[in-house]
Amino acid sequence: MTIATATPESGPDAPVVNVVITGSHALVTINNPPVNALSVHVRKGLMDALHRVNEAGCTTAALVCSGRTFVAGGDISEFAGPPPLPHLPDVLDAIEASTTPFIAVMHGTVLGGGLELALACAWRIADEKTRFGLPEVNLGLIPGAGGTQRLPRVIGLERAARMAANGKPVSARTFEEFGGLDLVFDGDPMAAIASFRDALPARPANTSTRPVDDADLTALKAEITKSAKGSNAPMIALETTALAATLPFAEGSRIERQTHLDLRDSAQSRALRRLFFASRSVTRPARLKAIEPAPVNHVAIVGGGLMGAGIAAASLAAGHRVTLLERDTESAEAGQARVEAIIARDLASGRISDDKAEARRAAFSAGADYTAAADADIAIEAVFEDPDVKRAVFTKLAEVMSEEALIATNTSYLDPNLISDGMPGPGRFLGLHFFSPANIMKLVEVVGTAATSDQTMATAFAFARGLGKIPVETGVCDGFIGNRILSAYRRQADYMVADGASPYAVDEAMHGLGMPLGPYELQDLTGLQISWANRKRQLAAGTWPGRYVDIADKLCELGRQGRGSAARKGWYDHTEMAGTRDPEVEAMVVAWRVERGITQQTFTTDEIVMRIMAAIVNEAHLILDEGIATSDTAIDIVWTEGYGFPKHLGGPMFWAEETGMDTIRDAFAAIEAQSPGSWKAADVFKS
Ligand code: COA
Repeated sequence: MTIATATPESGPDAPVVNVVITGSHALVTINNPPVNALSVHVRKGLMDALHRVNEAGCTTAALVCSGRTFVAGGDISEFAGPPPLPHLPDVLDAIEASTTPFIAVMHGTVLGGGLELALACAWRIADEKTRFGLPEVNLGLIPGAGGTQRLPRVIGLERAARMAANGKPVSARTFEEFGGLDLVFDGDPMAAIASFRDALPARPANTSTRPVDDADLTALKAEITKSAKGSNAPMIALETTALAATLPFAEGSRIERQTHLDLRDSAQSRALRRLFFASRSVTRPARLKAIEPAPVNHVAIVGGGLMGAGIAAASLAAGHRVTLLERDTESAEAGQARVEAIIARDLASGRISDDKAEARRAAFSAGADYTAAADADIAIEAVFEDPDVKRAVFTKLAEVMSEEALIATNTSYLDPNLISDGMPGPGRFLGLHFFSPANIMKLVEVVGTAATSDQTMATAFAFARGLGKIPVETGVCDGFIGNRILSAYRRQADYMVADGASPYAVDEAMHGLGMPLGPYELQDLTGLQISWANRKRQLAAGTWPGRYVDIADKLCELGRQGRGSAARKGWYDHTEMAGTRDPEVEAMVVAWRVERGITQQTFTTDEIVMRIMAAIVNEAHLILDEGIATSDTAIDIVWTEGYGFPKHLGGPMFWAEETGMDTIRDAFAAIEAQSPGSWKAADVFKS
């Protein structure tokens, strides 16, 4: 629902907070597009509006927002400096104490300061599609305008603590069940206001004066400790909310406000806020802004393996018609079954309704005849990582598809220039590198060739955003942004294993930094064979950089190709229970060192982390030096969205700045000394 013109005075040139008084009723409209954030001029406007409705002696004031949503929070762009007056807690206290009671009339996403504003109103009514949440923890913050103290007084301590600590929004129906809403309506908000006023309940006690039901939060604390994975804000949000049970509102709110302001200056919050804005700017490159993307209706996917099926499922979920192409009917059927399994999983988990599942099935077809792609607006090949196979697919697609349609390769390492070289309509080809499972992972690397047109890039970005993905532009190099850094990460991990560290100690050390998986666990999960094939390719081409450690090759030769392999073994043993350390591997590594006469070194946990991070940060800087990434934030988005780098650490580039480049420089010198000739130094590390 969008409230376009709530009053004759609203619209693009309307005041930021508009008041219309009709008889004894006031309609107060916030107009601060795009999401009605509570910027300083909105706070001032609310104070003025409050005085006007009180002076006029209105019996009620309905508070609505124009555009796509009720207030979606404080203005994050103001958080870098001291908050200008009036401060939000004072505005909300004034609204709560107003002689004229306020009715919050909500739609869209009522988040953070938006929910705090609603809680200060006497009544809350909402469109049934509205969502409510306190997402401050996602920005390394806690609410700062009474949210943690008012919410438990309305919906109970346990529910409020959960909402504040996990940052996840709830639906209008759920919020109503919690006791957070006086009415849920479907349709015209003005009609809902009128009927609510017609049977206006007695003015309830101010939220801040209500008692709080105490609750045992022990289980919730354990849950949040586990899910926070090193991020500070969730537990602070929980503990601050718990204060509502023991402290008067004013005291709890004072502590909440101070904690909120302190957290604004914390490295974690700065990291998360930077990523918030970066994930919006990086996905909309400035040079493409003036170009209207071509509409995409029909998507063709070539290759029905895990990746192709995932891309097909993501495209179906975005409402596209999807044709899956395979080399023969049997493979097409297998691909179809994979897509069907994803739809069935979404249905079983309640993520989608029967109708939606049916619509997706109806929009999907699979076969082996390429002419079915003739009217596709975009084709994405996700076949075997072999340049000849991929070229053959591109040739067949180019024959049947219009030159206006996009043809993309999902290669993770190969040069899209070579795959499309010499084909007609060169501007339409590009790389779109999805991450597995493609129906879930948000990152997509967008790789232009030398000939890709800006029109193609604009359409590709819009298409990826439409799938709910985070597209990031990358230049051409081996592994693009993400996998190129991953290769450096793995190389340095291998060098330490070669010289004395246990692979399990390396994984543990990286967990300590907050990585969900260490490098060896990750290899077991994704399978060792892909990177093995890739190393062979680089060795054959003479492009392997520096020292070569072949322990992983030996595991592959033994059939230990990871969790999904027939042996169900890789670096770890997954035969009985996933991820058991294997003494055989440890013995093999030791024997490998002895055979090569390597004197075993000891690496502390801190050394392991610093050396790996030095390799990562150096590679990231090389990528910037070479113009492969357009900004340091683009690299941080790739590594936080695609590789599990903790968001509260901001990504490798932010982490490096916070840690201090001198410290990283020392660690880089150490890895150069450990494996001479193996590292090309980025400009910042050149001595
Ligand atoms: N403060 C300042 N700007 C905000 C904002 C906020 N609280 N919330 C969103 N914006 C800006 C975005 O940066 C974006 O700006 P741009 O168009 O210049 O890039 C614009 O509003 C639209 O946001 P976007 O996220 O692209 O739109 P969406 O429809 O996908 O999502 C929201 C809308 C509100 C769900 C989402 O923006 C969001 O979650 N915002 C943060 C909410 C929050 O954390 N509130 C608590 C703050 S403490």
